Order: sequence, then structure tokens, then C-alpha cells
Amino acid sequence: MTKLPASGAAAGRLADLLSRETGQTLSEARRWRIETSLRPLLRAHGLHTLDDLVRAIDRDPAGPLKAEAVDAMLNHESSFFRDLAVFQAIETVVLPRLASTIADRRLRIWCAGCSTGQEAYSLAMVVKRTPALEGWTVSIEASDVSALAIAKAKQGRYSQMDMQRGLPISELLRWFQPVGKEWQVADELRQMVTFRQDNILQARRACGPFDLILCRNVLFYFPEAQRQQACSELALRARPGAHLVLGAGEMLGAETGFTACRDLSCIYVAQAASGPSTLVRRAQTQAPLPPHPPLS
Ligand SMILES: C[S@@+](CC[C@H](N)C(=O)[O-])C[C@H]1O[C@@H](n2cnc3c(N)ncnc32)[C@H](O)[C@@H]1O
Repeated sequence: MTKLPASGAAAGRLADLLSRETGQTLSEARRWRIETSLRPLLRAHGLHTLDDLVRAIDRDPAGPLKAEAVDAMLNHESSFFRDLAVFQAIETVVLPRLASTIADRRLRIWCAGCSTGQEAYSLAMVVKRTPALEGWTVSIEASDVSALAIAKAKQGRYSQMDMQRGLPISELLRWFQPVGKEWQVADELRQMVTFRQDNILQARRACGPFDLILCRNVLFYFPEAQRQQACSELALRARPGAHLVLGAGEMLGAETGFTACRDLSCIYVAQAASGPSTLVRRAQTQAPLPPHPPLS
């Protein structure tokens, strides 16, 4: 009889799967998170252990269980107006600054690693109340590697608990309708945002160039090489003068073509080298990415 892998080995296999699919790493010290985050999935599928889960994924590598497992291991923590000071800086400094430098009155925003949508909708609310953007065409593209997070973001429906985490009452009354025990975001905001599943490390679908990019609380769990790669993808899609917003405590990779704003923490400006011409050159030469290898 075949010897079954021990749970530690199964946790390692699952951590490898997460890393291959998303670039995110779970260090040995954080492996305990694997079992905790996968427990609801095990229960839902009548599985008892991580070894059972690994075997089930191996039996059907193209089935939905693999994506569900990856999804469950990702950290989707988000909330409306998370880090309020950053949204205030975007509203009072960044958007007016961009508005004064863009001639064609079109603003393109990319929210990379948008999770379940709160960040993108918060941005949409800020755009709506920014006088300097009145009459502008503003588009927000929002992407996340997780199909489940994107499905929820598209739906734009949130629990009472979600609403109580950072959303001012004035914005709740203006932009949300109660639906049963949940709250539905208004179509006017939903129409401003296009959500898509996309891996930031292979961000071929979010084309750009963008004037404002938010990539907050995503880089944190990338090892150095992936962080560098993600930063290059961001730089490639930033037009010169574009602003990039990172999460508190997150750092850019070396030589990414962004300079830190002296007056605004977590905010960077793209230099000329990361502009659209780079993007076009890269798109023309980029070979298709190989398919992911199976779990085993
Ligand atoms: C902690 S959440 C942050 C959400 C939001 N940016 C915020 O700050 O509230 C991180 C998100 O990054 C996504 N993510 C992780 N790796 C990714 C990748 N390689 N490409 C795109 N999104 C990724 C996760 O699925 C998760 O939804």
C-alpha cells in the first residue's frame, strides 16, 4: 500500500501550489495558516485532512478544487477607505495634481490586487466628489488573481459588517441600497469599474497606460524576485507622471522607475522611462506564458 504523505508534507505541497499560482509565499513560520484557512473548504467537500485535499486535487488537477484551495489560502483582507489618510491624499493632492496635467480630460486608474472590490468602489466615490474631475471620463480597472474575489467584487454586495468597517454614513446613504441583510452598491459606481481576474506577475490583460495605480497590501507576501517582477509590471503600465500608491510598509523593488513623493507617504511617481512606449514594445515582443505545471 502506498504510504500517505504526512500533513506537514501536504501543507508544503499546498504552499508550493499557492506560490506557483500567485507568487505569494507562506514561510515555514506561517504554515499554520494553511490548515486554518483551508478548514472550511475541507468541511464543504467532506474531506478530513490536508492529505485528502492534496489527493483530491491530484485526481482532478483541472477541476475547480485547485482554484478554491488557492483562493482560500490567499489573504483577501480589505475594507472601504482602508487607510483613510491615503484616500484623503488621493482626493486632495493626487487627483487635482493629475487633473492639472492631463490635457484630454481622461483619467485611467488601475487597482491591482483589488480583492472583493471595496478599494475600487472607494476610489469611485472619491472620483465622484472631486470637483477637478467634473466632466472627465474616468475609468477604473480592477484586477485580482482570485476569481472568487472578482465575482464578489462584480456583484458589489456587502454585509453589514463590511459597511461598518470604514465607510462613512454619508457615502453609505448616497451609494448603497439595502437588499435583505446586505447592501448593494449603486449602478453608477459599478459602471465606473471593470473587474477582471488577472495575475499581477503576468498582467497581460490590464493594458494601460494608467495615470493612477493602487497596489496596496499585495507586494507584502511576495519574495524579493516576485516583488521586483510585480513592480516592473506596474512600471510598464504607468504613463510618465503617473502616481502609484502602495500599502503602508510596502517597498518598491530596485530601479523600477518610480520616485517616492516627498510630501505623501506610500505614494510614488513614474518617471519617463516607464511610459507607454515601453509598454507597446513589451506587448509586441511578449511570448505567450507557458501553462502552469500540475500540483504533483
Ligand atoms: C490583502 S488583499 C488587499 C486588497 C486591497 N488592495 C486592500 O488593500 O484593501 C491582497 C489581494 O491581493 C491579491 N493577490 C495576491 N497575489 C496576487 C497576484 N499575483 N496577482 C493579483 N492579485 C494578487 C489577493 O488575492 C488579495 O485579494
